[in-house]
Amino acid sequence: MSDKAVSDKALVHYVYDGIEEHDNRLPNWWLVILWTTIVFAAGYWYWYHVAEVSPGQLGEYKAEAEEVAKRTQGNKPASDETLLALAQDPTAVGNGKAVFQSNCASCHGAQGQGLIGPNLTDGHWMHGGKPVAIHKVVAEGVLAKGMPAWERTLGAERVKAVTAYVLTLKGTNVPGGKEPQGEPEQP
Ligand code: HEC
Repeated sequence: MSDKAVSDKALVHYVYDGIEEHDNRLPNWWLVILWTTIVFAAGYWYWYHVAEVSPGQLGEYKAEAEEVAKRTQGNKPASDETLLALAQDPTAVGNGKAVFQSNCASCHGAQGQGLIGPNLTDGHWMHGGKPVAIHKVVAEGVLAKGMPAWERTLGAERVKAVTAYVLTLKGTNVPGGKEPQGEPEQP
């Protein structure tokens, strides 16, 4: 091998206990890897840190965190504040309306005016008109009175969305609705 030939002639730097240290030329394959990594590192650094052509790790993390925050808006625990905020969100209310039409309208009427189930537009409530009270009835139902529990079938997010939609029905007093049941909501 030529490397061997060179190394035979190469300078012997150091001898200790019969062990010789030679000053050999580095093999070409090794030099190719070395220079490739150096060129790659420079390119990488320029691409991600100087020109910022692609988002770096931090940028990707931020974008993903933002995306998750958007997607999980409806996952916040149900409180009066989060439910009222959801009732102001057209997307959530739209989803809630769709859920209502396919799951609730059969008992509460297409506009929430009441059929078998009570009128949801009249401002009178048997179980309370506060957002959390409505959410609780929808999630857990009033099984003995024929109101199903929805959290299991619809999942938390859709229960919140349909609660938000019910909040928008409150006080719309749809004409020809079922007579009020329960107590008028305290302001
Ligand atoms: C099978 C019929 C039925 C379906 C379907 C149904 N409900 Fe009800 N719902 C009732 C009945 C009956 C009551 C009254 C319970 C009582 O007398 O305590 C009720 C009560 C309620 C109340 C409480 C009203 C009050 O005065 O406090 C809310 C809110 C409500 N339903 C929302 C919904 C929503 C939202 C859906 C769809 C996800 C739904 N319901 C689907 C029958 C139904």
